[in-house]
Amino acid sequence: MAMSESKHLSLLFFFFFFSLFVAFSLAANVTYDRRSLIIDGQRKLLVSASIHYPRSVPAMWPGLVSTAKEGGVDVIETYVFWNGHELSPGNYYFEGRYDLVKFVKIVQQAGLYLILRIGPFVAAEWNFGGVPVWLHYVPGTVFRTDNEPFKRHMQNFTTLIVNLMKREKLFASQGGPIILAQIENEYGDIERVYGDGGKPYAMWAAKMAVSQDIGVPWIMCQQYDAPDPVINTCNSFYCDQFTPNSANKPKFWTENWPGWFKTFGARDPHRPPEDIAFSVARFFQKGGSLQNYYMYHGGTNFDRTAGGPFITTSYDYDAPIDEYGLARLPKWGHLKELHKALKLCEHALLYNEPTVLTFGPLQEAHIYTDSSGVCAAFISNVDEENDKMLTFRNVSYHLPAWSVSVLPDCKNVAFNTAKVRHHTNIVEMAPEKLKASTMSPEKGLENLQWDVFTEKAGIWGDADFSKNGFVDHLNTTKDSTDYLWYTTSLHVDESEKFLSKGGSHPIIRVESKGHALHAFVNKELKASASGNGSDITFKFESQIALKAGINEIALLSMTVGLQNAGPFYEWVGAGITSVKIDGFNNGTIDLSSNTWIYKIGLEGEHLNIYKPDGLNNVKWVSTPNPPKNQPLTWYKAVVDAPYGDDPVGLDMIQMGKGQVWLNGEPVRRYWPRTSSIHDECHPKCNYRGKFMPNKCSTGCGEPNQRWYHVPRSWFRSSGNVLVIFEEKGGDPTKISFSRRVVTGVCGFISDNYPFGDLDSWDKNSEFNGEAKVTLQLKCPESKLISSIRFASFGTPNGTCGSYLKGNCHDPDSISAVEKICANKSECTIALSKENFNMDLCPGLSKTLAVEAACS
Ligand code: GAL
Repeated sequence: MAMSESKHLSLLFFFFFFSLFVAFSLAANVTYDRRSLIIDGQRKLLVSASIHYPRSVPAMWPGLVSTAKEGGVDVIETYVFWNGHELSPGNYYFEGRYDLVKFVKIVQQAGLYLILRIGPFVAAEWNFGGVPVWLHYVPGTVFRTDNEPFKRHMQNFTTLIVNLMKREKLFASQGGPIILAQIENEYGDIERVYGDGGKPYAMWAAKMAVSQDIGVPWIMCQQYDAPDPVINTCNSFYCDQFTPNSANKPKFWTENWPGWFKTFGARDPHRPPEDIAFSVARFFQKGGSLQNYYMYHGGTNFDRTAGGPFITTSYDYDAPIDEYGLARLPKWGHLKELHKALKLCEHALLYNEPTVLTFGPLQEAHIYTDSSGVCAAFISNVDEENDKMLTFRNVSYHLPAWSVSVLPDCKNVAFNTAKVRHHTNIVEMAPEKLKASTMSPEKGLENLQWDVFTEKAGIWGDADFSKNGFVDHLNTTKDSTDYLWYTTSLHVDESEKFLSKGGSHPIIRVESKGHALHAFVNKELKASASGNGSDITFKFESQIALKAGINEIALLSMTVGLQNAGPFYEWVGAGITSVKIDGFNNGTIDLSSNTWIYKIGLEGEHLNIYKPDGLNNVKWVSTPNPPKNQPLTWYKAVVDAPYGDDPVGLDMIQMGKGQVWLNGEPVRRYWPRTSSIHDECHPKCNYRGKFMPNKCSTGCGEPNQRWYHVPRSWFRSSGNVLVIFEEKGGDPTKISFSRRVVTGVCGFISDNYPFGDLDSWDKNSEFNGEAKVTLQLKCPESKLISSIRFASFGTPNGTCGSYLKGNCHDPDSISAVEKICANKSECTIALSKENFNMDLCPGLSKTLAVEAACS
């Protein structure tokens, strides 16, 4: 390269980095008034997205943040996870998935703002609501009330985080991206239960936060009396009715739930995109100025971070970005279009009070005008059943039931929440057999070699302690493991009738505070039982065989994520409360006050045999035919990474319940627990009307978490060590890696969706209510539209994957679509006479439905 050229380049680089530096290091003045947040004197309409850093891996963070940015998001919002950072008192961890500073800087580099919800109580379906378990055992501590030890530790941690952010200059007041910080979480909803300790604690928390002097405002969500200058904010499926507690505070929505979390053994909730968009548009229509999706990317509860109890390892949340990091379509795309439409209104929206027009009991328009006369309007129809035609400023508009139209110029509809124009992705988990690692070629491909280690059913090594009666599970393990063995022995006299031929079997009856249990009698698994998301306690009875002489009862009690919310939640215990056996000559024997011998955790856990440096701590038995349906079994195999770079899920459908690691990295709890067939599922979801988590569920009668996300960055190209601990029995030879791939796209668009290209809104002089209706299809990068599986212009119906022709159908539909789309990675099909027979079925509104394969 010539000298002058390189000089030129370095100058260019200098200016590039200098402008970056200027953009991100100039302190911003963040204030607010009744209408909005004001950053350096500019009012802001802000779309925010929750992405929790430990629910993915650092290698995913830049991609997630840029997908959020591309989706029209201005702000990333995250909680801070105290128990992931303060592992024991004063012992801090900020590496790997817990590298908070790195995460905030990635957000900053993307040019986005950040809301830091320090909590440090967070709920969040996170183990113990984010508060370290050790704090419960600091004498005299009661969480979240006017209690000195709790307040002291909370203040210490809050200050630590604030100082860390200050040191790295991450507050907007220092030129960083953080524009708001949160203290506590939804305390107002339960404050009264804490009696005299409640209000003083909430007020203390606010004051303590404000005294941290971070230079940007503090928020408290669901804290109805948050004292000035702290802003109280709303969390709900809908927040249009919310008003802050003072006329000087703006209307902020910190949690709009675009889906819901899952619990093991329950059905799979979905919130339709039409309803999410409706709730957001209504919020801005009615004076809101900052809205956050909780979650925008839910991600994964790796390790034992899931709370609940019973929250699944997946925290997908049906969010706009799926667990694996792929944009969920059409949800992500529909909201992206909404964000564009909202941004077109930003200026008009944030300056004056709106004029409100009513068209009927359930229809209204809010018209916002700024001083220069720029006008934006929102027209809503909250009728849950009926569409409505209405006339606004001499133009007539069609408003579907339960929808809002956004008119950035008070004339043309840029967006209607119920008209989903964005294409849908067809996503599949493509299975791939576990392949023996090329690092161990002697084992040969396909012919996978397994190493097996079986735990003892009962006490291994020396007992930890013994006691007459039961201990609380959690107080004993202090959550260092999920597992606690309760064992006892019982002498059976030869004279017992059940020992004689034809005698009926005795019955064991067990009661537990939770969460799950496997019962072994004389080393054999006799029964498994568990509570569930709505009742964590359980009892069960099971026939058992006893022999004359000594019998051993070994009960493996398990936690499945600790309580994460609710008043005094830290006192909810777990473990066995009663064990009785019926069928003795003298009736029932109560073993509850027997001598019980206890052992915390499993031998394999204790010896760290899932960690790279602990793999050789036991004698594994090597075999190509690992035992099937055998309880308490560790399996280990050295495998290759699945090919390509698609995200990976581990298919555990043929396994029972247990934990899993790859290269020592904790995927952790798996449990393909089946939801009841009697749960109500609604595969055809009506988006109209108020959403509740059980409204649009799927998956009744199916195992509700089959795949477990294994981040690509955890794989090496070969020689990956997969370790599984199976509690009750499964078939490891049926485990596979599945790649998450987009195999097709669908689109469905009607000629009554008359809104144009949002990107060219103000440039497009021709744009008016008559804009062309087009359908866009797009395969993921590096894939092409390889075939058209379905196309119908006319009156098709159904949903993606099962479209059907209607009575009106243009027979040339498929060839028309093929002509435009075949072998392209994306295409745009206009509903025009060049492409279709527009004279078909006169008077009827026409739709184009297409399903195409991507390969
Ligand atoms: C809220 C809470 C969040 C999360 C959410 C449900 O009440 O603030 O942390 O738990 O519910 O996903």
